[in-house]
Amino acid sequence: MLQFTDEWLEKVQSSTDIVALIGKRVALKQSGKNYVGLCPFHEEKTPSFSVNPEKQFFYCFGCGTGGNAFNFLMKMDNLSFPEAAVRLAELAGIPIPSTSPRYEQEIRQKRELYHINHLAAQYYYGTLVSPRGFKAREYLIKRNISGQLVRQFFLGFATSEWHGLINFLKSKGVEIEKALEAGLIIEGQKGPYDRFRNRIIFPILDHQGRFLAFGGRVFDQSHPKYINSPETPIYQKANNLYGFNLAKENIIKEDSVVIVEGYTDCIALFAKGIQNVVASLGTAFTENQARLLARFTNNVIIAFDGDVAGEQAIGRGLEILKGQGLNVKVAVLSPGDDPDTFAKRSTKGEVQEWLRNAKPYTQYLIEKAVFANDIDSLEGKLLASKEVVRIIVSLDNAIERQEYISFASDLLAIDKQSLSIEVAKLEEIDKKRNFPHILSQNRHTKEDRDVVESGENLLERRILQWILAKPALLDELLNIGISWEDFENHKYQHLLRLLIRGTWDQQGELIAEELYHDNQPLSDWENYLDNFQLRLYAKELLKIEEKLISLEKDIEILPTKREIFQVIYEYYGIRKRIFLLNERNINEGPLERGGIDER
Ligand code: GTP
Ligand code: MN
Repeated sequence: MLQFTDEWLEKVQSSTDIVALIGKRVALKQSGKNYVGLCPFHEEKTPSFSVNPEKQFFYCFGCGTGGNAFNFLMKMDNLSFPEAAVRLAELAGIPIPSTSPRYEQEIRQKRELYHINHLAAQYYYGTLVSPRGFKAREYLIKRNISGQLVRQFFLGFATSEWHGLINFLKSKGVEIEKALEAGLIIEGQKGPYDRFRNRIIFPILDHQGRFLAFGGRVFDQSHPKYINSPETPIYQKANNLYGFNLAKENIIKEDSVVIVEGYTDCIALFAKGIQNVVASLGTAFTENQARLLARFTNNVIIAFDGDVAGEQAIGRGLEILKGQGLNVKVAVLSPGDDPDTFAKRSTKGEVQEWLRNAKPYTQYLIEKAVFANDIDSLEGKLLASKEVVRIIVSLDNAIERQEYISFASDLLAIDKQSLSIEVAKLEEIDKKRNFPHILSQNRHTKEDRDVVESGENLLERRILQWILAKPALLDELLNIGISWEDFENHKYQHLLRLLIRGTWDQQGELIAEELYHDNQPLSDWENYLDNFQLRLYAKELLKIEEKLISLEKDIEILPTKREIFQVIYEYYGIRKRIFLLNERNINEGPLERGGIDER
């Protein structure tokens, strides 16, 4: 076992671009020599988070958090230093020497905590199914939670004893110190006692099936309704989702996930056959949770409570999920309902129907804007239209725009034509504001945009199918500089990464299996490759446009002007490459366009 050498760490550090690293997680804009954005470590509305590419460090003037690339990952993803180093090395493609003793020790410590939690879960479960759990079982029956669900979710019962769990853990040779660390017991003035008493126990597992923490619900009207484990070395509530262990396979299989708020909502939908369901546990949905989901699917259905709080939570959750590039739909409930009460009085078919009818994010937004106003009055109608126009202008896809213009004009009972005109007007204003430096006819075109927006799943899928059929093509892909990071679909990204590394895991096997069984005829490999290249160029153009927008703010400064010219030069360079690539394809035959994913 080797410790990381300074030399190796140095190599990792120098192969890492902190701007690129942080730029993946935080929207950064260049400002002079630095890049600035909204600090991910505290709530803020104006950017005080700055990244210095020269010195390769970040610093937040708001909360004082700062450091290098290692510190950023440690803080952002709750990693230890060795974990962060390994992650950075992987990103940079640097081989990992072997694990360090400190890392090993940390793993050992965590393993111990998982083990203690597992023991506790067994204790709680045993109590629930014993004669002492009679009252708790009665409660669960009242809530339609069957014995099978109890076993699947490993539910349990904590009696009103003060030392029930402590004594059990002692009998298993667990040190009190460790149980404290796991958050299962509390150090009181008269000594330690059980945290959970007289409660139904909901164990929280991670997607690998490890016991992370517990939630405990009273089964009468007393308060607080729930208590949860505190944060521990193995549990950060912002990083986990309830039910993920049971849902994971189904999320992959269905290529979608349903998110609810509560433990009981999750269990109730699961019981109705919706087994790709997870719960966010009442706290604000976090970016880490979104990222966790994005590893398994791009399609999310949010099913929150039908009250005002639920609606606000949807708003925040949606933005975060959209920020991770996920397709978000909203399954709407009437006020007073939550998924649990709804599922309870509905058949399996009705629940499925409800989820099938989940509304695309944009539709949901438009309806909300319309229904929030009294559109029978002129004033209300104007307000609603204004909001609707803003929503539609933010869409990049022309077809989608047309559809929503139709949809919204019906809803608002106004002329489609007028709505289109308003949309065009606002767009013109936006354009003028954004790009004085490149003439509009030369600008990054709608078609380029569509290549980015649509079809990525199909294209990535086809490329992988080719590689699975003919492994030598992998080299070709890598030779022209395309790697897994360029893929957008998280499943396919994962598979490509495995293929490059020459390793396999269960998820990878499932995805490959699915691709093998898709008997669609393949077009030429070159076609797909060219299309993919086009897509990468288009993305570069988008990035450059963003950069231009931020540069234009400091237009009065001479170095900025110089930089703008440099960026524009770069811009036309890429446009030329796109032109040549298209040219070649016209000469050599038709080019199959990116295409819309078949699903
Ligand atoms: P039921 O009332 O049994 O249907 O529970 P629920 O899971 O539907 O709870 P609810 O919709 O009220 O809240 C959603 C989630 O928020 C719960 O699952 C808990 O994770 C969390 N939550 C609710 N009440 C409390 C509380 O008093 N304390 C804490 N820490 N969390 C709570
Ligand atoms: Mn509920």
